[in-house]
Amino acid sequence: MLEILSKEHDEARQGEAFTAGAGEQRSYARHFYIESYGCAMNFADSEVVASILMETGFGPVKGPEQADLILVNTCSIREKAEQTVRKRLTEFRQFKKKKPELMVGVLGCMAERLKNKLLEEEKLVDLVVGPDAYRSLPALVKEVEGGQKAVNVLLSREETYSDISPVRLQSNGVSGFVSIMRGCNNMCSFCVVPFTRGRERSRDANSIVAESRQLFEDGIRDITLLGQNVDSYYYFDEQLDKAISFASLLKMVAGISPLLRVRFSTSHPKDITDEVLEVMAAHENICKYIHLPIQSGNNRILQLMNRTYTREWYMAKVNRIREILPGCGISSDIIAGFCTETEEDHQDTLRMMESSQYDFSYMYFYSERPGTLAARRYEDDVPEAVKKRRLQEIVDLQGKLSRESNLRDLGNIYEVLIEGESKKSDQEWMGRSSQNKVIVFPKEQFQLKKGDYVKVEVTHFTQATLLGKVKVIEA
Ligand code: SAH
Ligand code: SF4
Ligand code: F3S
Repeated sequence: MLEILSKEHDEARQGEAFTAGAGEQRSYARHFYIESYGCAMNFADSEVVASILMETGFGPVKGPEQADLILVNTCSIREKAEQTVRKRLTEFRQFKKKKPELMVGVLGCMAERLKNKLLEEEKLVDLVVGPDAYRSLPALVKEVEGGQKAVNVLLSREETYSDISPVRLQSNGVSGFVSIMRGCNNMCSFCVVPFTRGRERSRDANSIVAESRQLFEDGIRDITLLGQNVDSYYYFDEQLDKAISFASLLKMVAGISPLLRVRFSTSHPKDITDEVLEVMAAHENICKYIHLPIQSGNNRILQLMNRTYTREWYMAKVNRIREILPGCGISSDIIAGFCTETEEDHQDTLRMMESSQYDFSYMYFYSERPGTLAARRYEDDVPEAVKKRRLQEIVDLQGKLSRESNLRDLGNIYEVLIEGESKKSDQEWMGRSSQNKVIVFPKEQFQLKKGDYVKVEVTHFTQATLLGKVKVIEA
């Protein structure tokens, strides 16, 4: 759902280990290794978990081999995501043969969904901790050390971990995530998130601003405010006797410094307001990029999905974005082959993609999740081969739309925030435009560094990357 330009964005991040930075000095008696799967919120949670563990004397390590405690922060969004995690847990179980005192725990959405099944039936792990129970980790680890198996999968209506400073061990030093809310109240019929993450709750705005300011002071220049549905952020500040909406929160974070870029994800089309668009327009440092998942372009399917908008409503939102924020990047999530989807319904999705002109999309075929409204009410009746063929058509069309989007960028000059050297060459920088496009350009003679802003003219492009040349360097 975020910046990863790939078909299966969450799978693309799978396996990315959470590793210790070079600056880690303190020595620890025991060590943990944490591997995160799924969405950015899970990655952000792993940073909270790291903070909790480091308070209790566990130090982070780069690989599972050196760890006394292995944690896997898991995702349940599609069956494939769960299969990948199961395979990994089976590998870790083998580690225990060589090192019997090794503790293996599962965190996150699979922990919540499967509860003690992974412990009792499958005997894959020693520890199962749901997304709202990370504060109990130290006590649960003690139980495991005492020879017990330990589980806490209680969901909370209040927990936001707002007082915990996440440990940024994996950061590129330029971009960071800040969690602003947890859970989801939307109940899209295909989606497991309301069951694994619980009720929606918003984090104290002051703690969000304080964490963002700290990140800025630590050198971070690009912050993404995270939530499943950021536009329904609502926090009542007792001291100020004032309600803070998402638009006001955006303003507060953007006010930290004009040098700090602010992004957010994800916006639900039913909730994004003109006020948010106007705040974006008024602040140059709020990035001109909106992830606005459509899921399907057919009204009957949208209703079955319980998305609560129509294609017409969605299109009106896209037009409003383009009106208030000309040149704003827009991306989407699309599901192929939801229950009862016909060829004609699928064609509606393709037509909506053409009308919306997405810069990029994350595309999936429908994967039935046990316990969801769709699993209970509708038959998963589109054959897998048909789902995959429709998905391929969606992917191909997005390929064409992305090329057209890149063509429109040719000759334009964008302000790029440098994130590091390009993967291919140490003679090139890689950065991102406000519109969230990756731009690679030669270093030339300019004395630039990570975290600098620079104007780059787009000269050509490959499938996922714009290529350019430095135009003017800002002081
Ligand atoms: N809160 C975000 C989405 C989070 S999940 C939103 O509402 O936009 C990320 C994406 O995974 C969803 O947008 C959807 O496209 C996809 N997804 C969720 N459940 C799925 C399922 N059962 N099968 C296939 N894709 C699914
Ligand atoms: Fe899932 Fe819908 Fe909530 Fe997104 S808004 S997390 S798709 S229920
Ligand atoms: Fe996956 Fe849970 Fe995120 S199901 S997408 S890790 S909220």
